[in-house]
Amino acid sequence: MSETPGVLISGDITPHMRDKLGAAFTLHDLPPEAERAVFFERIARDCIAGVAYGAAVFPKSFIDALPALEIISCYGVGYDAIDAETAAERGIVVTHTPNVLNDEVANTAILLWLATARRLAAHDAYVRAGRWESEGNTPLTQGTQNQTVGIVGMGRIGQAIADRLPVFGARIAYHGRTKRDVPYTYYPDLVEMARDCDVLIVITPGGPATRHLINADVMDALGPTGILVNVARGTVVDEPALVSALQEGRLGAAGLDVFENEPFVPEALRQMDQVVLQPHVGSATETTRRAMGDLTCDNLLAFIEDGTVLTPVPECAGFAKKRA
Ligand code: NAP
Ligand code: 8YV
Repeated sequence: MSETPGVLISGDITPHMRDKLGAAFTLHDLPPEAERAVFFERIARDCIAGVAYGAAVFPKSFIDALPALEIISCYGVGYDAIDAETAAERGIVVTHTPNVLNDEVANTAILLWLATARRLAAHDAYVRAGRWESEGNTPLTQGTQNQTVGIVGMGRIGQAIADRLPVFGARIAYHGRTKRDVPYTYYPDLVEMARDCDVLIVITPGGPATRHLINADVMDALGPTGILVNVARGTVVDEPALVSALQEGRLGAAGLDVFENEPFVPEALRQMDQVVLQPHVGSATETTRRAMGDLTCDNLLAFIEDGTVLTPVPECAGFAKKRA
């Protein structure tokens, strides 16, 4: 048995997080699949905690293999890769990193919209290839001023995106399951909103409830000049339907930070000029990842100290003791 309690590290964490956690825990890095049975047997007795890196998974099988588990701290706000319901049923606290990344992810959403509308990536490739000299000017693009922008998911990040839109003279609409106390036009019907929008920015959680929320009907409603921006999770958009809609010109363009099967991106999307692609980097700056890393660790350190946590996920709010 180790002197300090064990923490399972599922996915990449930063050296700063390693240092911070190393003071209070023994760190166990998840090995390759073939070595896991022996690994879990070895750490089972003293591993009371887990860290989940957003894109990596913390499935029920890990929870089952760790009978001493008391807390899972997610390095990200979206915790769809963690089986939070099973954890909550067993009294295991799950925490995440809300709010500290709102501004960064909102900036990324705006960046993707502007880059997509103004064909930034295609223009950059055009200049680098020497085509400006040989072929002349590129076609005019869509504008970014005075557009109707629909936000799918008016939560913490959705509101930060809306806060940035007035400088573009945008009319702001939103869709979600509930009407919020915000001065924007609420649409209970997503297809109806897409029909009225030039741009749709998706920023809901992932998971079964939002799987393929953005389907062919929504894309058709957004239409041949419409722009879809996805900074939520790849699963929220029906990717094959997106490829078809773009190929057939039923949807104008797309700016994508997330994909259904990361890190794999359909070849068809990679070939399209009307698409801007990013490798899930919505929050990936030094400053924001530092703040997320600190909160991920601070939840674990508070728990070790006195059983409280700072930012439990809603599924655990009923029994997690929150630090005042
Ligand atoms: P949040 O405050 O919980 O907001 C989520 C919003 O989505 C809420 O307004 C909610 O409204 C809406 N929503 C939830 N389920 C829905 C459904 N079935 N249909 C329609 N709307 C639904 O979360 P947040 O902090 O803003 O983060 C949102 C998500 O962004 C995260 O969960 C994560 O997946 C993603 N994210 C991505 C990156 C990146 O790097 N690309 C970074 C950070 C976060 P209602 O409850 O009213 O429906
Ligand atoms: C991270 C995210 O890239 O917070 C989230 O939900 O998607 C991103 O901020 C991811 O969680 C990796 O930690």
